[in-house]
Amino acid sequence: VINELKGVKRGKLKISVASTANYFAPQLLATFIQRFPDVTVSLNVTNRETLLNQLAHNEMDMAIMGQPPDGLDLVAESFMDNPLVIIAPVNHPLVVEKSIPLERLQNETFLVREQGSGTRISMERFFSLHGIRLTTGMEMSSNEAIKQAVQAGLGLGIVSIHTLALELELNRLAVLDVESFPIMRHWFVVHRANKRLSVVSLAFKKFLLDEAAELMAQAS
Ligand code: PGA
Repeated sequence: VINELKGVKRGKLKISVASTANYFAPQLLATFIQRFPDVTVSLNVTNRETLLNQLAHNEMDMAIMGQPPDGLDLVAESFMDNPLVIIAPVNHPLVVEKSIPLERLQNETFLVREQGSGTRISMERFFSLHGIRLTTGMEMSSNEAIKQAVQAGLGLGIVSIHTLALELELNRLAVLDVESFPIMRHWFVVHRANKRLSVVSLAFKKFLLDEAAELMAQAS
């Protein structure tokens, strides 16, 4: 590995990450930059739909996102699991229950991410696949807003486990034990199929594929 990456002295890396990936991307970048201190990184954080637009317009080297749709002439490689879980305020009656049937969720109100969010798409797909109609409450454009609103008692939420480290540690939110959960998604490193990747980009992609999952497992 060291030999292959010898050429990485300096250079720029322009990446965009899905809003949810913002919860781990900076930690990974920190390790990468320790190894290659002369690399300059620009990090853009946005939702899935905007990422796909940016890729279509060749506005960055690479993206970190949930699975992109087929047919866009992209290369996408998965490097880490992304479990989506249901969160509740710690005093919610469902917190103490085990293997909650999906049907029980129909009595609850769910706060949802904005249209264009990958989390939102997966959640809708999952419940329609299982024939469950959820009541949705407020729509919010960030994971932070969803977590705050759930804590405040406005409803339940569905978020990636990666967004929850702090709240779980401080016992501010609870993850419900629901049948068929978590919804298992994956994180992908994505670039245009015809993109000529710089040495720095190649090194970063290799770093994600070889090491990200393990580094994040150690961190949690
Ligand atoms: P998002 O996450 O919900 O922040 O867009 C990306 C994804 O999970 O695809």
